[in-house]
Amino acid sequence: MEPDFWLERWEKREIGFHQVDINRFLEQYWSTLELAKDSTVFVPLCGKSKDMRWLAQQGHHVLGVEVSETAVREFFEEWEVKPTCEHKGSFVSYSAKNIEILVGDYFALTAEDVQEVAGVYDRAALVALPPDMRRNYGTSLAEKLPAKTQTLLISFEYRLDARKGPPFSIDVEAVKGLFEATCDISLLDSQPFDLRGVAATEHAFRLGYL
Ligand SMILES: C[S@@+](CC[C@H](N)C(=O)[O-])C[C@H]1O[C@@H](n2cnc3c(N)ncnc32)[C@H](O)[C@@H]1O
Repeated sequence: MEPDFWLERWEKREIGFHQVDINRFLEQYWSTLELAKDSTVFVPLCGKSKDMRWLAQQGHHVLGVEVSETAVREFFEEWEVKPTCEHKGSFVSYSAKNIEILVGDYFALTAEDVQEVAGVYDRAALVALPPDMRRNYGTSLAEKLPAKTQTLLISFEYRLDARKGPPFSIDVEAVKGLFEATCDISLLDSQPFDLRGVAATEHAFRLGYL
């Protein structure tokens, strides 16, 4: 899925992935990452997720990256906070209070951009990517993130004949295949999930980069 695919989704308002409520696994399992309250949390492919506001309320500095400027503008409008906006390399940075979102391509981020990161929250980012991009995403996280970064990863699994991605079905073995060379992996929970009419399972993993 190239950026244009997603820009069109936002333009056509095909954003069924956006959650009105805070993710249940985020509320339940975030504390198991044992991050300092004021540490920086990276949210790749963040959309306009309200989960970023929840993370900020916990005291974290939040750094998101999102290709759609529409999504980022809507995030701040819905939060009712006016962001400051500046160019940062190949990105446009929107920031207010303790949340900064970089508008641009995740794959253009450098290790320097994420050098302060201690935690990652991935909900519907990995599953948004087709297999070849998914491998690049896994490798690039490992290459760019500081050692010992802790991640809460939320993925979906469903019968392959039930629907086409995105979101793509990613089972527990596939997550292990992508991350076991670079992370300690713990499966925290698996619960039934209604994926817009398709019976799915939502998995929560803790990944600790080695
Ligand atoms: C399935 S949505 C998930 C959004 C958010 N994580 C959530 O839970 O609501 C995937 C998001 O990633 C963005 N995206 C896709 N490819 C991207 C890329 N290469 N760089 C930055 N953002 C990207 C899309 O615009 C979309 O908002």
